[in-house]
Amino acid sequence: MSEQTIPVVKTIAIAGGTGKEGKGLAYRWAKAGYQLIIGSRNLEKAQAAAADLNTLLAGKAVVTGMINQDAVSKADLAVLTVPYSAHVESLQGLKESLAGKILIDVTVPLVPPRVTRVQPPPAGSAAQEAVQIVGEATRVCAAFQNISYEHLLNDEEITCDVLVTGVDKEARSIVLKLAADAGMVAWDAGVIENSIVIEGMTSILIGINKQFGVQSAGIQVTGVPRPSALEK
Ligand SMILES: NC(=O)c1ccc[n+]([C@@H]2O[C@H](COP(=O)([O-])OP(=O)(O)OC[C@H]3O[C@@H](n4cnc5c(N)ncnc54)[C@H](OP(=O)(O)O)[C@@H]3O)[C@@H](O)[C@H]2O)c1
Repeated sequence: MSEQTIPVVKTIAIAGGTGKEGKGLAYRWAKAGYQLIIGSRNLEKAQAAAADLNTLLAGKAVVTGMINQDAVSKADLAVLTVPYSAHVESLQGLKESLAGKILIDVTVPLVPPRVTRVQPPPAGSAAQEAVQIVGEATRVCAAFQNISYEHLLNDEEITCDVLVTGVDKEARSIVLKLAADAGMVAWDAGVIENSIVIEGMTSILIGINKQFGVQSAGIQVTGVPRPSALEK
C-alpha cells in the first residue's frame, strides 16, 4: 500500500464503550487529543457514559455517545470491547459500518465460569473469528487484551505492555501509535494468528490476579530497548 493511503486517525469509535475496558481506553485517547465516540446498544446509555467521561476530562476533550453502528460509521477507526458471548453478534451487526476501516478487537474469549482456563474458539482466537466475520473489507488488529481496566480510567503510569497483532503491518503500526498515545508501551507481535497467545495470556493473568487478590496483573517485554511511553 502506498504512503498516501495510510489512514489518518482522528476519530475513534468504541463499540461496547460503556463497559469497563472501553470506557478506560476512551479516557486515555480523549486525553491524548483524539475525538471519541462511545458506542452502545442503547443511545441513552452511550450518552451517559460520554457525559461521565466529559466530567472526568473537565473540558479537555469532548466525548460523544451514539448507538454502536452510528459510532463506527462516523469514526476513522473502531475498537470492539464486548464480552466474548456478544462477539459474533456484535461483529455481524457492525460488518457494514466497519468496511474500509481498521478494527481493533480487544475481546478475550473467556468462557465463564472457568475464566482462568485458556479456551480458544474454533477460529483459533477471537481476533481470527473477527476476520472470518468482517472479511477483507476491514483490517482487523487485536490489542489491549492484557491491559486490565484498572489501569485505564486514571492518570497513573501504565507499566503493562501491549502486544499488537493484525492482518497487515501498516494497520499494526497505526495501532502501535494509538497505544503509545494512550501512554502504553506496545510491541508489534506479528500476524493475527498470533493473537491466540495474547488472548490466552489474559486467562493466565486473571489466575494470577486471583492468587494475589488484585485486578492489575500484566506483562512486560524485557531484553530489548524499551521506549518510554511517557516521552511520546
Ligand atoms: N475488563 C478488563 O479488564 C479487560 C481487559 C482486557 C480485555 N478485556 C476484554 O474486553 C471486552 C470488554 O470487557 P469489559 O470488562 O469492558 O466488559 P463489560 O463491561 O462487561 O461489557 C462491555 C460492554 O459490552 C456491551 N455488551 C454486554 N453484553 C452484550 C451483548 N450481549 N451484546 C452486545 N453488547 C453487549 C455492553 O454495552 P451496552 O450495554 O452499552 O451495549 C457493555 O457495557 C471483553 O471481551 C474482555 O474480555 C477486558
